[in-house]
Amino acid sequence: MTATSPRLKHEVKDLALAILGRQRIDWAGREMPVLAQIRDRFAKEKPFAGLRLVACSHVTTETAHLAIALKAGGADAILIASNPLSTQDDVAASLVADHEIPVFAQKGEDNETYNRHVQIALDHRPNIIIDDGSDVVAELVQNRQHQIADLIGSTEETTTGIVRLRAMFNDGVLTFPAMNVNDADTKHFFDNRYGTGQSTLDGIIRATNILLAGKNIVVVGYGWCGKGTALRARGMGGNVIVTEIDPIKAIEAVMDGFRVLPMAEAATYGDIFITVTGNKHVIRGEHFDAMKDGAIVCNSGHFDLELDLKYLASKAKEIKDVRPFTEEYKLTSGKSVVVLGQGRLINLAAAEGHPSAVMDMSFANQALAVEYLVKNKGKLEPGLHSIPVEVDQEIARLKLEAMGIHIDTLTADQIEYINSWTSGT
Ligand code: ADE
Repeated sequence: MTATSPRLKHEVKDLALAILGRQRIDWAGREMPVLAQIRDRFAKEKPFAGLRLVACSHVTTETAHLAIALKAGGADAILIASNPLSTQDDVAASLVADHEIPVFAQKGEDNETYNRHVQIALDHRPNIIIDDGSDVVAELVQNRQHQIADLIGSTEETTTGIVRLRAMFNDGVLTFPAMNVNDADTKHFFDNRYGTGQSTLDGIIRATNILLAGKNIVVVGYGWCGKGTALRARGMGGNVIVTEIDPIKAIEAVMDGFRVLPMAEAATYGDIFITVTGNKHVIRGEHFDAMKDGAIVCNSGHFDLELDLKYLASKAKEIKDVRPFTEEYKLTSGKSVVVLGQGRLINLAAAEGHPSAVMDMSFANQALAVEYLVKNKGKLEPGLHSIPVEVDQEIARLKLEAMGIHIDTLTADQIEYINSWTSGT
C-alpha cells in the first residue's frame, strides 16, 4: 500500500508502523555515539543549509540516524532504497511521520518501482548524492547529464559501487568528485568484515533456523566481506571452504586456516554456499548440477546476480516457498537446491543488515564525506577521492573514546626515532 501524507510526499508501506520504527531507531542509536556527535555538531553549524540531498541506501535503523544527522545539518534530504528487499518498513514510516524526511521505499518493491524511485530521487535535483551501489549516479550519468551542473559531488558506500565508479571514470563519464567511503579504514575493516560476517550468518539463521556447526560452508570470495563471513562461519563450528580467483587472497585464506578449492570441487562438498564476490554467476549451471541434494545457496554481495538463478529456474519443475525468504527449487534431476532471499543480500533480506556499532563508523564517514564535498565545493577534481586520513583517524578516535578504550601515545624520543634514518645496528 502506498500511503500519502497531506504534508509530505512519500511512498512507504504503512505510516502506522512508525511507532515500532521509532522504538527500533532509538535502540540502534545506543550503539551509534560517533554519528550522534556529528549530528549534534551539524545541528549547530548547519553545513548543508539550502542543499538538496538524495540518499540511496538500505532503509534501516542505522540509515535513519544518517538521514536525521543530514537533516539536522540543514539538508533538504530524501531517501530511497538501494535494494528492493532491504527496506525496514517501520523505519521508513517513522522517518516520514516523526522526522519529516520523505522516503520512497517499501520492502519487496518490484524492479519497476525501484527504478521509479531512482527517478523520483533525481527529480529532487540533488546537489549531493549518497549512493550505495551507484544506481543513482549511473542513472544521472546515463540519462540526466543536464543535472550534473547541479551536483557538488557524490559519496559511495560499497565495494560494488566503487568498481562501477572506476569504470565510469575510465570511460570518461565521471565528471564530478565522488568520495570513496568504502575504502576508508574505519569503514571496510569493520563494516565489510565484522558487519557482513555477523549479519550474513544472522540472515541465514533467521531464514532457515539450521544448525551451522558441522556443516560444510563454502564462502565464495575472500575480500573483506568474505574474510568476515568465513571467520564467523568457523566460529559457529562450520567447516569452511573458501573459493577465490585472486592468488594473494587465496594464500591469505589458506594461511588463515581455511581449505581453498576451485568452485567445481567445492560445489560437491558444500551444505551452505555464500557468495560475496561482487561478480556475476560465480555459482552457475555446472556448480548447481554438482551440488548435494538440499544444498542451501545465498548471496551477501551487493547485486543479485552472483547466483545464476535463471539457470536454476530453467531446471526446476517446481519452486516452493518453504519459509519466509527460503525457496526450494525442486529440479527435474530429482534433487533440490534451496535459495535464500531470492539471491539478494541475505543479511538485509532476512535479517537487519550490519549491526549499528559498525554502521556508526560507516555512516560517520558518509556524513563527514558529505561535509568535505560541501566545504571543498568547486575545488575537487572529477573522479574518486579518498576519505582524508585525518577524518578516518578522528572517527577511530571517537569510536574508541565511546567504547571507553584508551591507547598509548608515542614518546618524543620515539617520534624522533621513527622520523630518522641514522640509527641502525
Ligand atoms: N549495509 C549493510 N548493513 C546496513 C545497515 N544496517 N544499514 C544500512 N546499510 C547497510
